[in-house]
Amino acid sequence: MKILILPDAEAAADRVAGLIAARLRQAPATVLGLATGGTMEAVYARLIAAHRAGTLSFARARSFNLDEYVGVAPDHPCSYWRYMREQLFDHVDMAPGACLLPRGDAADPAAEAAGYEAAIAAAGGIGLQLLGLGANGHIGFNEPTSSLSSLTRIKTLTPSTRAANARFFDRPEDVPRMAITMGIGTILNADEVLLLAYGEGKAAAAAAMIEGPLSASCPASALQMHRKAVVVLDEAAASRLTLRDYFDCVHPGGREAEI
Ligand code: F6R
Repeated sequence: MKILILPDAEAAADRVAGLIAARLRQAPATVLGLATGGTMEAVYARLIAAHRAGTLSFARARSFNLDEYVGVAPDHPCSYWRYMREQLFDHVDMAPGACLLPRGDAADPAAEAAGYEAAIAAAGGIGLQLLGLGANGHIGFNEPTSSLSSLTRIKTLTPSTRAANARFFDRPEDVPRMAITMGIGTILNADEVLLLAYGEGKAAAAAAMIEGPLSASCPASALQMHRKAVVVLDEAAASRLTLRDYFDCVHPGGREAEI
């Protein structure tokens, strides 16, 4: 795992957006794995700015999002499809049909999940997977005790995850109880993963992910098994790392290692 610690959330988002942009410039036909949530809004804003400045194109890229709520149609105001349109898709040049999310309103959600996993494989797999981090250590909606080799499937959300996402809904009770999510195995199959977390609320999960035992109790700890995982944190999210001195020594100020 490469651990990059930036001074604040703005710098961390800059860094992640920069890494995504660099990958797209080097490999324009990259298959992106995308995430939703509050953390990603600053990243997408930066990608849109780069696109508007004429320095970044998504025209040859494709994307698969991590997850969608079960029972929520794409045109629902709280759907992740709507989030992605508002935060990214409507503002960049991705080709029509190139951006996929699981259909939350599928008549058979289990079949939808299996079909989604097959579609990722048919696209050649995810090239770069973007991830946020749940305060409980989840990635995607793989809640604690998720199988570390799971594929796309239906997961029941924990009360803490529903509470954390209640801000996107009119009433807390409107937050769906289940989601279709890529599995941890799906995420580990990506060529490269890039996780961003900021704020004190993510510090315990970040420490468990990076320094804790490999355990389904912290699903993000599965990234310890990935060959090319980059974790970008701000100071607050890094505040509980005990190996902080080492990470600073390898990547001072979050810069690339000098050989
Ligand atoms: C979003 C997702 C989640 C979020 C995580 C952090 O598609 O799969 O894992 O990345 O819950 O959410 P925020 O960024 O809102 O703190």
